[in-house]
Amino acid sequence: MFKEKFREGVISAKQFDREDIEYILKKAKEMNETKNSNLLHGKILATLFFEPSTRTRLSFESAMYRLGGSVIGFHSGDVSSIKKGESIADTIRTVENYSDCIVIRHSLEGAATMAAKFAKIPIINAGSGSGEHPTQALLDLLTINEEIGSLDGLNIGLMGDLKYGRTVHSLSILLSKFDVNIYFISPTELRMRNRDIDFLQQRQVKYKEITDYRKILNILDVLYMTRIQKERFADSEEYERIKGIYIFRQDDLKETKDNFRLLHPLPRITEISPNVDNSEKAIYFKQTYYGIPMRKALLAELMIE
Ligand code: NCD
Repeated sequence: MFKEKFREGVISAKQFDREDIEYILKKAKEMNETKNSNLLHGKILATLFFEPSTRTRLSFESAMYRLGGSVIGFHSGDVSSIKKGESIADTIRTVENYSDCIVIRHSLEGAATMAAKFAKIPIINAGSGSGEHPTQALLDLLTINEEIGSLDGLNIGLMGDLKYGRTVHSLSILLSKFDVNIYFISPTELRMRNRDIDFLQQRQVKYKEITDYRKILNILDVLYMTRIQKERFADSEEYERIKGIYIFRQDDLKETKDNFRLLHPLPRITEISPNVDNSEKAIYFKQTYYGIPMRKALLAELMIE
């Protein structure tokens, strides 16, 4: 079922029903039981990263190696023929001859969708401009499910740059399949985009938009903090004005419930004070670990017939 439905790859969180999410969470949990295997022996993954990445690329590559497969790719536009003016379509029609699955990150919102249109092999969207980042959202759900024990009945705050942050777009779409209360916390300039809000309204998701996180800190189960996306601002002065707007500090932890957990897709700039890191409530480095079992599960589903 999953394999059939996702034959073209993972492009958007909107492809996932609750059933698909539960299935892939279960598969990721199974993947977590063994470190290495030979499931993808003989298969080749291509990672095409036209934008910077640490966790996403390295965890996809590590996951592929841990499943016995191999990896090829390039990690910035300037080392490929894109620099010479080659189109995304031509790049994909070339790389599909050399690999069994392509992971792509690009600054254009439609890049992964376009890649999937041209490719005969599965495409995985590893971040498309300020649009979406579905595999990050899946690993975020895995983190919450494993560390809190459930995805239903939670009060979840998504905070920071909700306009340009692609991880919160995908995460709110996936969360809309569960029984949660979502608090969107941002300066008014960086609110969720209308199209994302429309989608949530259609799904009758319970949400509130607020600017001051302190007002609801004591009721949250999860706070998902994000970086202000400097590279997406047309006006650098606006970025400078907004960049320090939220800083989660050690004192804030005192207001939170015992089972409260703080997540962040990383990289963190100044929005979480480093002395929060040692708290057991701060689980953003654990969250980076969950990228491995989730990406192992996705790669196995997409590449094994
Ligand atoms: C995020 C991204 O690239 O969208 N990072 C990630 O993949 N873990 C978040 C960000 O860059 O702020």
